[in-house]
Amino acid sequence: MIYQVYVRSFADSDGDGVGDLPGVRSRLPYIAALGADAIWLNPFYPSPQADAGYDVSDYRDVDPRFGTLADFDGLVADAHAAGLRVIVDLVPNHTSSQHPWFQAALASPRGSRERSRYLFREGRGPDGSEPPNNWLSVFGGPAWTRVPDGQWYLNLFDSAQPDLDWTSEEVRAEFDSILRFWLDRGADGFRIDVAHGLAKDPALPDISSDYVAAGPAGVGHPHWDQDEVHEVYRRWRRIADSYPGERAFVGEVWVHTTEQLARYLRPDELQTAFNFNLLLAPWDAAAMRDAIDASIGALTPVGAAPTWVLSNHDVTRHVTRYGGGEAGIHRARAAALMVFALPGGAYVYQGEELGLEEVLDLPDALRQDPTFRRTAGAEIGRDGCRVPIPWSGDAPPFGFGPGSGEPWLPQPAHWKDLTAEREAADPDSMLALYRAALALRRESPALGDGTLTWLDSPPGVLTFRRSADFTCVVNLSADPVPISGEILLSSGPIPGTELPPDTAAWLAT
Ligand code: GLC
Repeated sequence: MIYQVYVRSFADSDGDGVGDLPGVRSRLPYIAALGADAIWLNPFYPSPQADAGYDVSDYRDVDPRFGTLADFDGLVADAHAAGLRVIVDLVPNHTSSQHPWFQAALASPRGSRERSRYLFREGRGPDGSEPPNNWLSVFGGPAWTRVPDGQWYLNLFDSAQPDLDWTSEEVRAEFDSILRFWLDRGADGFRIDVAHGLAKDPALPDISSDYVAAGPAGVGHPHWDQDEVHEVYRRWRRIADSYPGERAFVGEVWVHTTEQLARYLRPDELQTAFNFNLLLAPWDAAAMRDAIDASIGALTPVGAAPTWVLSNHDVTRHVTRYGGGEAGIHRARAAALMVFALPGGAYVYQGEELGLEEVLDLPDALRQDPTFRRTAGAEIGRDGCRVPIPWSGDAPPFGFGPGSGEPWLPQPAHWKDLTAEREAADPDSMLALYRAALALRRESPALGDGTLTWLDSPPGVLTFRRSADFTCVVNLSADPVPISGEILLSSGPIPGTELPPDTAAWLAT
């Protein structure tokens, strides 16, 4: 289990309202007690924070908001002592516009070496005032920004995030060195941001209208999932393998099919990649089963372990996706037992173990996601899943930071019932369920590597066996279903021998 720490919202040691590395360090015992094997830290590098740190201006340091390199070293040492591996977030598709390379590019003429590290092009139209092609930013608006001398640069995300040109050997060499920098400091691996995006079709062609029907990253897209991207990962794998211990990658790979995903996981590329099938599936038995089968089916031939994710810092929290309120909580509890019973790696996004929901009513003035600004509010953005964690007490900031200082996003008052402190003392809490499930998962041989076998079950019910004596049943239907066997753990009360709707159970059979 890999626990995702969204640093700015996890724990604030100095009372500035923003989480930091010393804060994470102070809460490692909580993460270890939850049953994690590793932590993934979202970006903490120096950054103007145009996209919450995914706009890096120095890849070899810690932003003063989040601490120092010494804090990072201390965090790694403590994590390792607690049996936790540390995965850092690598952002190779783009730098910040404040990165010295981009500043040098702006100060240099067209055709210069400085500009060759990015994708500068002439515009279209008689005076070059139209963007070079029709690509759109993921965050809304055109993917091109014009500079004063008339050239345009590519930004698939915000204009403060210029895309690097990965055909440049200088860019490749720089990232080799960045990888080594963090590996030398004891990082156990990297989460690769936008791993499917680094290579672009060198002709930078328009995206054809036929293509749009193929979905977000179907085969043949000119800037997602280009073949050349795999060369980068082969190169990085050789670097990681040259270090002692097992240094691992997890790619953020948004592609259309699991076959495309599997190509990133060939034996000389990444060991793991996020698999977002389950995250995208609604609370529906057939959809969930299809997502699970597609993932296992595509990854088994390349020998890669699946990964399971229900929430992260980019999507609406799953309690809310599954309907919110009581139903959302019951379903999220059942989903946790389902995911922890599946073969492979499970990611837990900070706060899901407390049953936090998406915060939907943040004041617009406080929203920071560039998506909100770039779409003029048409897309609300991702701030609602990034609200700081409630640790203790009855009023904000709920122990997120010292004193009563305001966190960078306001926490709902009713989170007093969802603090880690309160849930730790309640055997029926989401936290208690996560702890119990993860402890069983750790000690049960049936829940290690291997595969699963589906058993026949009524419509709306998922039943799978991990070994002769371990079965997981998830009831996504509206009716109770009979179960048999000794109940090892359940996501809710089981009256008699019938599993209620929106409930899951682990059975010794
Ligand atoms: C990834 C990150 C997301 C970020 C984007 C641009 O999708 O998870 O938070 O905004 O890349 O770096």
